[in-house]
Amino acid sequence: MKKIKTIPVLVLATGLATGPVLASEELAQKHGCMACHGVDKKLVGPAFKDIAVKYKAEKGAVTLLARHVRGGSKGVWGNAVMPPQAGISDDNLGKVVRWILQH
Ligand code: HEC
Repeated sequence: MKKIKTIPVLVLATGLATGPVLASEELAQKHGCMACHGVDKKLVGPAFKDIAVKYKAEKGAVTLLARHVRGGSKGVWGNAVMPPQAGISDDNLGKVVRWILQH
């Protein structure tokens, strides 16, 4: 009897893993966001999951959060301060914020 090979399934799974979601995570990593934020764990700043829960239903959340990241934020989540994030382009900041809200 011949064994059925499962390699095509593996190839498909690998292809899916390199989708646009990963690209936004890479952007967050590249721009230093992950030094203070975890996806589901609070570090210096709130977990991205908690941010998503708080703002998901809010209209204009992407614009609001992008403005907070660009200009810095304090007092919303506690005593820790997020300094203004200037080193990320508007385009990439929009992508990262949309990615955060997907959690
Ligand atoms: C030096 C640490 C630090 C870095 C770097 C940092 N953050 Fe933050 N971030 C924080 C802290 C602390 C808060 C909570 C501030 C508050 O309570 O208002 C926060 C809050 C936020 C919020 C929620 C803002 C709100 O109004 O509720 C978002 C979204 C966010 N960060 C995204 C980012 C992104 C995207 C980057 C990378 C470009 C980034 N952060 C880099 C520390 C950081």
